[in-house]
Amino acid sequence: MKKIAFFDSKPYDKESFDRVNNGRYEIKYFETRLSSAALPLLEGCDAVCAFVNAEIDRAVIEGITQRGIKVLAMRCAGYNNVDFAAAYELGLTVVRVPAYSPYAVAEHAMALLMTLNRRLHKAAMRTRDYNFSLVGLTGVDLHGKTAGVIGTGKIGRVFCDICKGLGMRVLAYDAYPNPESGLEFVSFERLLEESDVISLHCPLTPATHHIINRETISKMKDGVLFINTSRGGLVDSDAMLEALREGKLGGAGLDVYEEESEWFYEDRSSITKQNKTLSLLVSMPNVIVTSHQAFLTHEALENIATTTLENLDAYFSGLPLVNEICYRCMGAGAPQGNVAMCPNRVNGRCK
Ligand code: NAI
Repeated sequence: MKKIAFFDSKPYDKESFDRVNNGRYEIKYFETRLSSAALPLLEGCDAVCAFVNAEIDRAVIEGITQRGIKVLAMRCAGYNNVDFAAAYELGLTVVRVPAYSPYAVAEHAMALLMTLNRRLHKAAMRTRDYNFSLVGLTGVDLHGKTAGVIGTGKIGRVFCDICKGLGMRVLAYDAYPNPESGLEFVSFERLLEESDVISLHCPLTPATHHIINRETISKMKDGVLFINTSRGGLVDSDAMLEALREGKLGGAGLDVYEEESEWFYEDRSSITKQNKTLSLLVSMPNVIVTSHQAFLTHEALENIATTTLENLDAYFSGLPLVNEICYRCMGAGAPQGNVAMCPNRVNGRCK
């Protein structure tokens, strides 16, 4: 039986993977994240399964391949944390779960927006104290307001639909706009200038790193509500913090943070040395931070487990890998991770 070294494992992962696996692989669950220090745990395993916050750099990839392991199954959609050039060079096949529930993430983005707008986080804390005052809780009707959606792939499109359901006007920006989506695509500048709400749904790439910075924030309307469920690195956190303190941004709902890998997913409440920007953000009344939980629904967990194990089934059976992602594909016309667009594939695999 093939053995999978499963890193950053949480009780909810074990539950869904054990149920879907049904005994076909031996899964060795490790709570630690995949890193150079964790490499000895790979001895005797045939595959590695990692999550979004592992730093999978060249050293880690070397450590994996030196132990004879040739496949890394990422149980997430984003892949900015993997050194794909090193993986390709060292012969490590990387598969991922491109979609598990766009609804989970889009609904969480809307939950952040609703909470922020109607101050539900403050109201719930007040009523626990038997404080039933409404002062300071005034929001706006989202109906009739303009939502600017940056990135209109699977998640962005669902978010657009939810906004439309509320009677919002939706402006979209995408580097690869789909003319059949029925969305109103505008320039990045126009989206910044006209939106009352801005939500990020594009991947983190060199082109999108700090796409939200001092200059782009200065082009936004005063008081805009800003939502990021995509990746922390899309935003210059210090510029965002400054704009929140000055009132340029009316509020921020953040499921991701630039340096989250050091903090998120664990209880860090007893750590005395904190991250300065993150500490300031979590203390602001008009900021809501969640710990990269937008994906966390029962449906998404089931889909993640199913696709991850199917990816490994295909790998070990020599079948085409529909969810493979590789350096050569990205450089050969598959910039959005759509390997079907890559001309370099042989028998459905990157070579
Ligand atoms: P997707 O690949 O379906 O859509 C991404 C969209 O962004 C595409 O339409 C693409 O053309 C567009 N895009 C690419 N480069 C761009 C650029 N430079 N400027 C503007 N648009 C650009 O991806 P999906 O599934 O919609 O996911 C979006 C992002 O959500 C992921 O990259 C990931 O970072 C994040 N995510 C967050 C989760 C969470 O739990 N918080 C869970 C899953 C994904």
